[in-house]
Amino acid sequence: MATIPSQSNQSKSIAVPNDANASGRSFGATELDMLREVLERGTLVSQAGPVVPQLERAFAKWCGAAYCTAVSSGTAALHTAIAAVDPKPGDEIISSPITDMGGVMPILYQGAIPVFADVDPRTCNITPATIEARITKRTCAIIVTHLFGNPVDMDAVMTIARKHNLKVIEDAAQGFGATYKGRLVGTLGDIGCFSLQQGKHITCGEGGFVVTNDDKTARFMKLYHDKGWPFGEENPDHEFLALNYRMTELQGAVALAQLGRLDEFVQHRRDMAARLTAAIEDIEGLVCPRDTADTTNVHWRYALRVESPLTNADLDRLSNALRDMGARTAPRYTQKLAFEYGFLMNRRMFGGSGYPFVGPQRDGATEPVYDRAAFPGAVEGLQRLLCIAMNEKFDAATIDRIAATIREVITNK
Ligand SMILES: Cc1ncc(COP(=O)(O)O)c(C=O)c1O
Repeated sequence: MATIPSQSNQSKSIAVPNDANASGRSFGATELDMLREVLERGTLVSQAGPVVPQLERAFAKWCGAAYCTAVSSGTAALHTAIAAVDPKPGDEIISSPITDMGGVMPILYQGAIPVFADVDPRTCNITPATIEARITKRTCAIIVTHLFGNPVDMDAVMTIARKHNLKVIEDAAQGFGATYKGRLVGTLGDIGCFSLQQGKHITCGEGGFVVTNDDKTARFMKLYHDKGWPFGEENPDHEFLALNYRMTELQGAVALAQLGRLDEFVQHRRDMAARLTAAIEDIEGLVCPRDTADTTNVHWRYALRVESPLTNADLDRLSNALRDMGARTAPRYTQKLAFEYGFLMNRRMFGGSGYPFVGPQRDGATEPVYDRAAFPGAVEGLQRLLCIAMNEKFDAATIDRIAATIREVITNK
């Protein structure tokens, strides 16, 4: 019988729930029952099974969008959304320099150029003013990432987008349940994207959603995730170039069960984050993540800013001490800005041809700015950022131990 290998680099302590395994994830009788039903039915493909369509209806209802397609990952969701914008080769799409590459790589797969705006160093979220400064006549869309589950200033982004006739794709992979002026992120732009990967607010291992209110966009995305095939329509044809990004019924069963608990998980994260903030907010130099009058934060990560009089070395000491007590941290999160990754710096794509950066499709276009000197907000924001992983299994005792560890490090400085 095949066995699952045990993980080699387990943390020194297992006391802090970890979303990489059952200690920090909530799979129970509902997930098992739904999986059993799917297996007993014997239909694992979503075109023929009832579960993924049911999940799509349930998620659309949950977020108040007219249409939802379930896909195989958050990256697939973003690729599907970008394909729906239909950039011409060499067109530009503005994104954030601090985000997952799932929000950047699909831009290139569609033959478009990623152009980066800067972020607010206090939140690491993309800013409307720097988006506008990067718009050229080649720009066709803006992708906003609601980083760590903290909403971007969407009214300002939408005003700029409408003024310049641009589509807005929201990357809400980390933002399930976060609100902007009372509305859920992912439903404020033209298309919203979500991820169901292992470490997100809810999970089925891998998976994602695209949502929209526009019927033409919805039809395109439904076809795009299935090789351009209008499943169930009369006289179907592969209508355009596309991939297979379908979710299986097995994933759908787990995701549907998880969706039933999403509101509870979101509220719990918010409660735990509020407890941590209350316990450490008096420490000089720590800036805790907060709601604003317009926004609620769902804390995919607890994004702590460590600023003067605390130093870079203090940030590392905090991170190490938290890791020693079993918490998971990411000092300076991605550490690199998006354009500093090898694939983009060395243009490792499309057979070394230089496409889409080089060629007639870029005639007359200006080179995108890939120089960290032009991103003071992102550089400063990352330098001071300490991400602390959270999940729905955190309890008051876990939070109190994290808070005590933080206080001890600062007190014994
Ligand atoms: C902001 C953001 N965008 C996109 C993705 C890509 O999602 P996935 O890993 O499911 O492809 C992720 C997560 O991994 C993410 O955090």
